[in-house]
Order: sequence, then structure tokens, then C-alpha cells
Amino acid sequence: MQATASEQRNSLRKHIRSQRRALTAQAQTDASAALLLRFQQSDAVKSATHIALYLAVDGELDTAPLIEYCWAQGKSVYLPVIHPFSKGHLLFLRYHPQSTLVANRYGILEPKLDVRDVLPAEKLDLICTPLVAFDQSGQRLGMGGGYYDRTLAPWYETRQGARPLGVAHDCQQVDALPIEVWDVPLPEILTPSMHWQWSI
Ligand SMILES: Nc1ncnc2c1ncn2[C@@H]1O[C@H](COP(=O)(O)OP(=O)(O)OP(=O)(O)O)[C@@H](O)[C@H]1O
Ligand SMILES: [Mg+2]
Repeated sequence: MQATASEQRNSLRKHIRSQRRALTAQAQTDASAALLLRFQQSDAVKSATHIALYLAVDGELDTAPLIEYCWAQGKSVYLPVIHPFSKGHLLFLRYHPQSTLVANRYGILEPKLDVRDVLPAEKLDLICTPLVAFDQSGQRLGMGGGYYDRTLAPWYETRQGARPLGVAHDCQQVDALPIEVWDVPLPEILTPSMHWQWSI
């Protein structure tokens, strides 16, 4: 029997997540150092002041050097926080070196909710977007919550506001992803060895 698109997506998630987790500590350190160089050279990063990043879990590419770089450059860094009332949505909170972090329901650290630290997503310049897999045309598969699809939908419809910049290991690339109507593709993705760009 043929697997449904949803079954295919779930088995791909499982496969790529386990490959990502299998990267050695040295491979992770090298990947994140290589990505920092691409990040520093990116025009999207150079022109951005308010940048959303993420804290790595599950073998994701470590963003700590990117965050340190943004702080050193005087750019404001924001992290995603699961919205307390609006199911499936994210809030973006300012992340300072002194921020208190708490684990959310997925075990991902996020800044402690304080309305004074919230920046509406449309006021961000750039959203560094985590992903599980991406394909040859910039389509993206996430962890399965739809959080980034919802966050990026207004940008995709209007091309106004925060633009996504995908961040991934090279091993997260696949030929073609099974796509659903709500999936938002990424115009740009940085990996340690490539700067991918698509006109979408
Ligand atoms: N813009 C949207 N509006 C309403 N529901 C959405 C939207 N985007 C995604 N969803 C819902 O979210 C669920 C998960 O979507 P999907 O499998 O694409 O997640 P994902 O892209 O892997 O996750 P994430 O974006 O959190 O990394 C789907 O069941 C879908 O119906
Ligand atoms: Mg999706």
C-alpha cells in the first residue's frame, strides 16, 4: 500500500532528525563555525537590525555563535515563545545576555514571558528559521507543529515584514519534499557549505 503524504512526511522527519542527532560534537562545532561565516556575509543579515533566531535542540545547527555575533554588532535578538493563548502560534521575545530562560512543553528553552519583551512578528527584519528538511526548490519541512508556517504566512502572502532565512546542516537537504498547501517555502537557506537562494 502507498504511504500517504503525511506518513511520508513523518518518516522523513524521523530519518533526518536521527541523522542530525548522529553528528559528532566536533562536526557540530565545525558546522556552526562555517555557518557563522556565511551569516556574516549575508546581505539579509547585514541589513537587519531585529533578528529572530532559535536555540538549537535535537541536533539542530547551533546558533550560539550567530547570537553572540548579533549582540556584538548591536543587533537585537529575539527568540520564539509558544503563544500562551493562541494555539499553534509563536510570539517573539527579546533575548538579552541576562534573559531568564524556561523550558517549554517541547523541552525547548524560551525567554520567560514578559509583555515588555514582545516584538510583533511583522516588526522583525529577519526570521532565522529552523527546519528538519529542505528540498531543491526551497520547500521546508519542520517539526510538525505548523508554528513557522503560521508565522511566515503573512510574509508569504504580502512579501511585507519579516523575511525568513533558513538555517540547516547540509545533511538536511533532500531532492523533493511532499508538500501541503499551508507550507511556506524559504527564499534563502544557509548551510555550512552553501548559500541557497530561490526566487519564490
Ligand atoms: N497557516 C496555517 N493556518 C492554519 N493551520 C496551519 C497553518 N500552517 C500549518 N497549519 C497546520 O499545522 C499542522 C502542521 O503543519 P506542518 O506539518 O506543515 O508543520 P511543520 O511545517 O513541519 O512545522 P513548523 O512550521 O512548526 O516547523 C498542519 O496540520 C496544518 O493544518
Ligand atoms: Mg509545514
